Amino acid sequence: MLLARIKSSAKDNKCDLAMEICSLAVRKPWQGKGIARNLVIAATRWAETHGLDQVILVIPENQTSTPALKRLTSLEAGWHDSPGKVIVTLSDPIKVGALLARLEKMAKRQQQRWGWKIAPYPDELTSELQARLAAPDEHNIGKPYDPNQPYSTGCHSLRYSRLLMADDKLVGWLAAHQLSPNLLRYNKVWVDPGWEKSGGLLAMVADVMRPAHFAGVDLHANNLKICRPIPKGCFSFYPNHINMPRMSERHFRPVASQWVETRTRSLPLPRTSKSYTKGEVSSERKAESY
Ligand SMILES: CC(C)(COP(=O)(O)OP(=O)(O)OC[C@H]1O[C@@H](n2cnc3c(N)ncnc32)[C@H](O)[C@@H]1OP(=O)(O)O)[C@@H](O)C(=O)NCCC(=O)NCCS
Repeated sequence: MLLARIKSSAKDNKCDLAMEICSLAVRKPWQGKGIARNLVIAATRWAETHGLDQVILVIPENQTSTPALKRLTSLEAGWHDSPGKVIVTLSDPIKVGALLARLEKMAKRQQQRWGWKIAPYPDELTSELQARLAAPDEHNIGKPYDPNQPYSTGCHSLRYSRLLMADDKLVGWLAAHQLSPNLLRYNKVWVDPGWEKSGGLLAMVADVMRPAHFAGVDLHANNLKICRPIPKGCFSFYPNHINMPRMSERHFRPVASQWVETRTRSLPLPRTSKSYTKGEVSSERKAESY
């Protein structure tokens, strides 16, 4: 089985349409017989005939499937390679509970020093959130959850999302994505420049971790076998991000149940006769593709 989706992104004022292979799996007895290669070839042909710009496959490092996936997307065959996100999963209640106790202590101290406040995430966009969404895209500047682009799986969780306010002004947010009843993704986590070292970001994380994974639990007498009500949390970051790698290595890697580095492999496809500007967002190509 090969599952893929069409992803559009704006690049140099042009709309780039990619086919992202989200999942590729062959049953064990049938592995090593060229089935995955044929699926990738068929999907690539489909993308090409439908005028898409590239095919993307994210490859996890150090997994049993890694060598096969790398051969399927070899650089000799024209695939490009770039660093992908690091995906971190937390689920060990003892280790994560100890981290939460530390984060809560730190948050209390830093709040007194910096004076920020944590507020609930509103169910309707405030003018400040609207302005952030309307701001031009900038490298390394975060955006809050956009209700016009809902998740294809799971939903934006108001209960587990927060805003960070200073002098009644928005300076950060944590927008959580409930992927399933068992998994909460700490998706859009952001603080404005100048607030990175204020402890506000980790304080929002702790403020969500408590009700999401340790509801009604005394952290000092924590003998949980499994976090509750949501057993697992996850987040991801690009290794070249300014702050996330260092912060994640320091606080989350020691207690993570999974820390998976990935590579992004992409195959540029020959350009069809038409080129599209960003404004067009090629509804024609999209409609065809779907
Ligand atoms: C990864 C997977 C999809 C490959 O499927 P497959 O049908 O066995 O792959 P193919 O037979 O088409 O082989 C593709 C290439 O990988 C190579 N390959 C296959 N298994 C390999 C292995 N264990 N080690 C090294 N190379 C391997 C093949 O030799 C072939 O390369 P070549 O054509 O240059 O000789 C399959 O192993 C699988 O389903 N794994 C579990 C699910 C998974 O982890 N999916 C990936 C995450 S989305």
